[in-house]
Amino acid sequence: MGEYHIRGGNQLYGQLRINGGKNAILPILASVMLNGSESVIHNCPKISDTLISIQILESIGCKTKMEGATLIVDSSTLNSWEVPADLVREMRSSIIFLGGLLGRCKRVKISYPGGCELGARPIDLHLKALRLLGADIVEKHGFILCSADKRLTGACIHLDFPSVGATENIMLTAALADGETVITNAAREPEIQDLQVFLNTMGAQISGAGTGSIVIRGVKKLHDAEHTVMPDRIVAGTFLAAAAITGGKIELTNIVPEHLYPITAKLSETGCALRMERNSVYLEAPSRLRPIETLRTSPHPGFPTDMQPQFMSLLSVANGVSVINETVFESRNKHVAELKRMGADIILSSDGLTSVVKGTPKLNGAIVESKDLRGGAALILAGLAAEGSTVVMNSKHVERGYEQIEESLKAIGADITFRKL
Ligand code: EPZ
Repeated sequence: MGEYHIRGGNQLYGQLRINGGKNAILPILASVMLNGSESVIHNCPKISDTLISIQILESIGCKTKMEGATLIVDSSTLNSWEVPADLVREMRSSIIFLGGLLGRCKRVKISYPGGCELGARPIDLHLKALRLLGADIVEKHGFILCSADKRLTGACIHLDFPSVGATENIMLTAALADGETVITNAAREPEIQDLQVFLNTMGAQISGAGTGSIVIRGVKKLHDAEHTVMPDRIVAGTFLAAAAITGGKIELTNIVPEHLYPITAKLSETGCALRMERNSVYLEAPSRLRPIETLRTSPHPGFPTDMQPQFMSLLSVANGVSVINETVFESRNKHVAELKRMGADIILSSDGLTSVVKGTPKLNGAIVESKDLRGGAALILAGLAAEGSTVVMNSKHVERGYEQIEESLKAIGADITFRKL
């Protein structure tokens, strides 16, 4: 745990390479136990969520070895179907291990992940889907006990909401089930496509990822696999926003252009000039950002909720009024109060979902507290643009999804240091 100390005012210039994606590697690590043999995963991001996932794999008997950014997992030695409750508490997205363990062991015990900083984070869609695949699920004493004494069988599953996690859990469970599973109203995020690529490399038969309909034809067995994790589109968007808020210029390499379109389209609306190449993007910021009349978050390919806090920082210094509608997570606006401590002029609706952001020429440095991963990133961006010094406390949130963010920002001219507490 630590804090980021920032002196604002530097324009950021330079080039950064984007590493593997947090929301891509987590479901991939939850699926390595399906093949009962070896998986080699390249471009692993060194973030705390990856480290917790590795701890979970080791706790159920898998062998892991990290060589640079390559992780090698041998799941032939898997000897437990119980995910340690303390690790689930540390990382609620470990619910994705439900599908992997059910697919491999036909039974799972995992504690209820419960809510987090973003809201209640229910898993009703996950459980309803797994029941349709033939799982018996008992929820008691804060645990979920899943079993499938008969083989799991394919089903037609329509998701009430295109949940990323539920889509992933169904793919992992159905990969080794009997027959065909069709998911309609599936999540379309690029990380779902990356998961499909990895599972098919193992020998699964999955198609349609990236569209609203995914078809999984169950197979009897899966085998060794090797995969390179897709780059992190939210980390890329965050660094583009850092250049935008400081009036700088940046080039990012190792990106996938079409993953960034929902983000770059909105950066263009603020007056940034953008150029895309095959696997790089270049941004040049205007001297003063323009407001965005209405910014609304929605599932991919809509504007990602994971970039909403960062854009609120941007729009806090834009030349006009913007309205931001958060439609995905009911408690995703904890950064508003902290931005206001820096002089941002933001009015939040009583339900906490709509913000009216009146851009001010300058923010003032302050001591602020990150309450969640992307809110913490947003406060760092605000500090880069603010007059004077800013301290962003509670670095543990930011460390979940950004590899040494202070080193990357320093490399392109930011005056930022990390102080360990
Ligand atoms: C994934 O979370 C990401 N996390 C989130 O990134 C991301 O914000 C989110 O997808 C949306 O894109 C990972 O991939 C590890 P959802 P997930 O299930 O799967 C409701 C970050 O900052 N819902 O699509 O949990 C839920 O309450 C993180 O990197 C149900 O109602 O998201 C929420 O309102 C934050 N019932 C909405 O769906 C369910 O059973 C979106 O949830 C499941 C979800």
